[in-house]
Amino acid sequence: FNILVLHGPNLNLLGEREPKHYGRATLVDINQALQNMAQAHRLTTFQSNAEYQLIERIHAARHENIDFIIINPAAFTHTSVALRDALAAVAIPFIEVHLSNVHAREPFRQHSYFSDLAVGVISGLGAQGYMLALQAAFTLLRDKNE
Ligand code: DQA
Repeated sequence: FNILVLHGPNLNLLGEREPKHYGRATLVDINQALQNMAQAHRLTTFQSNAEYQLIERIHAARHENIDFIIINPAAFTHTSVALRDALAAVAIPFIEVHLSNVHAREPFRQHSYFSDLAVGVISGLGAQGYMLALQAAFTLLRDKNE
């Protein structure tokens, strides 16, 4: 399978950024763990602090036979209709991941522009949330291909 993992703004600072909420794992650690799990499958990771770059990356996925997207939209979760529309436009199934439990934090984090379009949402399980999402993606894709 061909999986795209997207990381939104400020996630390049993981490891040093508010470890109480986001843990000690760096983005390199997380991407490496996902690559190890992906084995012979193709897994591409992309982080940007810019909404435009993330939208362009999603559009590009249309021509790359991406089967599944795992996305942590970070702060764009709560603000970006444009990123939501990009995912709706390409119609590639996706799982929304958050390191922290957004429901246990400020009220403005409790609304997501993505959750109703997502296949599923993982929030509050730290870095392992990405691994669980990848495992779920493989299971869903296998079931679909049967
Ligand atoms: C986050 C939660 C968001 O509310 C926040 O803006 C982030 C990270 C998370 O992974 O817990 O940047 O998506």
